[in-house]
Amino acid sequence: MNGGDTTAAVIRMQQLLLDGSPGLHEGELLGLVADVFTRRRASLLEAAQRFGTPLYVVHADLLQQQANRFTAAFSRPGLTSRVHYAFKANPSAVVVNTLRQAGIAADVSSGLELELALRSGFERVVFSGPAKTDIDLENAVLAADRVTVHLDSFAELERLQVIAGRLSRSIRAGVRLSLAAHGAWTKFGLPPMALPEFVQRASACPQVDLQGVQFHLSWQRDGDGYARTLADLGPLLRFNAPAGGWRFVDVGGGFYPEDDEAVYPWRTPQGRLQVLLGLAVDGPAVDWNGRYLVHTVQPIETIAAAVIEAFGQHVDAGDRGVELWLEPGRYLANPSVTILLQVADVKSPEVAITDGGTNLLGWERLEEEHVPLLNLTRPASSQRHGRVYGSLCTPHDVWGYTCYAEDLQVGDILALPAQGSYVQTLQQAFIKPIAATVVEHADGRLQRVVEEESFTGRYPELFSGPDPQLVGTEAATLPA
Ligand SMILES: Cc1ncc(COP(=O)(O)O)c(C=O)c1O
Repeated sequence: MNGGDTTAAVIRMQQLLLDGSPGLHEGELLGLVADVFTRRRASLLEAAQRFGTPLYVVHADLLQQQANRFTAAFSRPGLTSRVHYAFKANPSAVVVNTLRQAGIAADVSSGLELELALRSGFERVVFSGPAKTDIDLENAVLAADRVTVHLDSFAELERLQVIAGRLSRSIRAGVRLSLAAHGAWTKFGLPPMALPEFVQRASACPQVDLQGVQFHLSWQRDGDGYARTLADLGPLLRFNAPAGGWRFVDVGGGFYPEDDEAVYPWRTPQGRLQVLLGLAVDGPAVDWNGRYLVHTVQPIETIAAAVIEAFGQHVDAGDRGVELWLEPGRYLANPSVTILLQVADVKSPEVAITDGGTNLLGWERLEEEHVPLLNLTRPASSQRHGRVYGSLCTPHDVWGYTCYAEDLQVGDILALPAQGSYVQTLQQAFIKPIAATVVEHADGRLQRVVEEESFTGRYPELFSGPDPQLVGTEAATLPA
């Protein structure tokens, strides 16, 4: 680093220390807290009592609510918009089926997810993602009346043509583009400058009907990224269209739900710098006021208005009838799952241990991010300080540094709401079994849909191995 660089770095550090963290505001996720205590408490306590803890509880009404709100936000007279649920956010059968019943289509990214969508009866499926296998493509072609394949490369275009040719079927396709805003996401799809050649090569593939383009941005808390990308895309599409014209533009997912996630002050850029400089501790200080920093997220209606305006201005000006496709995952699924835990041990007023570990989340996320933890047995609208840990043999297994609780006592049932996306998909086979899943149907009925992971579920090889003696006495008594 030269002298100039050092000066610039010092100025930048000063700004960071003084300005705080833009896009975050100090506060609490009180809407979420009130919703759980007032509307969900009784059914969650019943679920814990009937099915035990730890437990994932899926709220069907919240899935329907999110689906309705998202669909309404993107509806306008004269515009055809199609909402596809990104299965990767949460491919539980109950989640995808509830969304299908709410009129949502499917966005799948593997052969496994494709099979789930087709078996679940989805009528419209987009199949995206890199490195699709020949078997995946063949299955897509066999279901070509329902599936559109988003192609990731020239090679995939050619493979799809060969497979569709062999099966004497045609299939609709889109092509994924990585636009400037994508940065590291350029692993996906093609750069825009490749579009003219792609359109030309697709025209030589009689069984592949190229109809649209797809892009995806992650973690969008307003509409600016989509609007900028659509503005970049407009001229490109105008001058490079397949013979039948563009029929859809798929803007992907990345829509962030409002008010369900926050960050601890010591984990913001400003906070990290303070820790690095030795000005703060990496964790809650003794005088921490319990406040956390909430991400400022625009309502989906505001984001949708920006997307639709940019779409009309840059892509579908003059009523060409291009459809707007969307692939929300997190937005639809996140509010719909609550994790239930039980206090297993209280070591001191500052340290409680629960019966479930953060292997249920998949990584040490709650060291970074704040999600309100609520004591359903002894509720309180304000936070009680004290660390709540999980049951894993690692100190990183933290559920929270505060709990909305009068007190914490052994046997209390705790709830961690808004865990519906990228949680069950990322859960780890680490030390403890994976918890069961219960659905709370819209009519209030509770039903267990997935059992707690069993010994046989985790160690299937012990039941089919060639030499049962190798696994000791237990194997001899277990079923073959
Ligand atoms: C192509 C594509 N579509 C949709 C999504 C879903 O994103 P999100 O869950 O943020 O809405 C992803 C996520 O990575 C994606 O890659």
